[in-house]
Amino acid sequence: MKRVFSGVQPTGNIHIGNYLGALRQFVELQEDNQCIYCIVDLHSITVPQDPKELRKHILDVAALYLAIGIDPKKSIIFVQSDVSGHAELSWILTCNSYTGELSRMTQFKDKSRGKESAPAGLFTYPILMAADILLYDTDIVPVGSDQKQHIELCRDIAIRINNTIKKDTFVVPDGRFLKEGARIMALDEPTAKMSKSAENIHSRVSLLDEDNKIKKSIMRATTDSDGEIRFDPAGKPGVSNLLNIYSAFSGKSVEDIVAAFAGKGYGDFKKELVVLTQEAMAPIKKNFEEIRETEELKDILRDGAERASAIAEKTMKRVKNNFGLGF
Ligand code: AMP
Ligand code: TRP
Repeated sequence: MKRVFSGVQPTGNIHIGNYLGALRQFVELQEDNQCIYCIVDLHSITVPQDPKELRKHILDVAALYLAIGIDPKKSIIFVQSDVSGHAELSWILTCNSYTGELSRMTQFKDKSRGKESAPAGLFTYPILMAADILLYDTDIVPVGSDQKQHIELCRDIAIRINNTIKKDTFVVPDGRFLKEGARIMALDEPTAKMSKSAENIHSRVSLLDEDNKIKKSIMRATTDSDGEIRFDPAGKPGVSNLLNIYSAFSGKSVEDIVAAFAGKGYGDFKKELVVLTQEAMAPIKKNFEEIRETEELKDILRDGAERASAIAEKTMKRVKNNFGLGF
């Protein structure tokens, strides 16, 4: 069995981009692999968080993991800061990473915007992500395509240490990106990716949105004035993004969807997309409401942390030994 690891930040507003790019892969992969799904709270504090809100968002993501169909009997679900190995391994990797390669990360460049006061954690964020992955001898990392550069860096660090310290210190992982859904764009501004933090709530559909909100956001999504439903991401980014979402939710190819809507207008197409999206979100919302306030949720996280720790401790022993750390 292959080992799968991925993580989501507990920052609220988990949206259909997160779902179509990453989360739905989590469910599919748990049938044939040993999967570990983390709530990466240490990553979220790279920007200031209100402690009460953070705690709430951690439990929200845990409940969402279960609501979309992750089975805690098959997969491990846990909170990053409950396993000390993440921070510990992160330091060892930090000493084997170059400031040059970190400076090239586009996420850091976007978020820091060259400010002197950008938190150092924002700069070293991809190293913590590499630690998450390498701590579990991960083979496969299901993520959206915005994480491609971070996965490459993780591979580079693992290969570097295997070459300089000791062969087989780390398993070198592969990213897993979907064809449809790997990059869902903002509904109001389809040249930017859909994000949790954008101010305009209609830029995204969140997984817990009411039907009415889903309808509003999709019906007012930015398109263009030529009126033809055609897939052309450069020339028609809005329509192409909606086609991508339609394809990911329906399982139909973009070509088939374009053929089915030949001669029809954007209004008809959007209306169908609204229904498709509402139907996909309905069971998730229902499951979420049932799970969120249960004590069982916390038991699952405690049990997950124990199972994750057992794996992490073995890796840390091997890594420290290879580096000559401890005694
Ligand atoms: P984050 O919210 O940054 O923790 O992201 C959680 C997961 O969702 C990661 O695997 C991201 O690559 C993925 N993701 C985030 N935004 C998008 C998007 N707009 N389209 C597709 N995948 C995304
Ligand atoms: N950096 C990822 C994001 O923002 C979240 C993340 C943290 C992650 N650690 C990870 C994803 C390990 C995959 C594997 O989306």
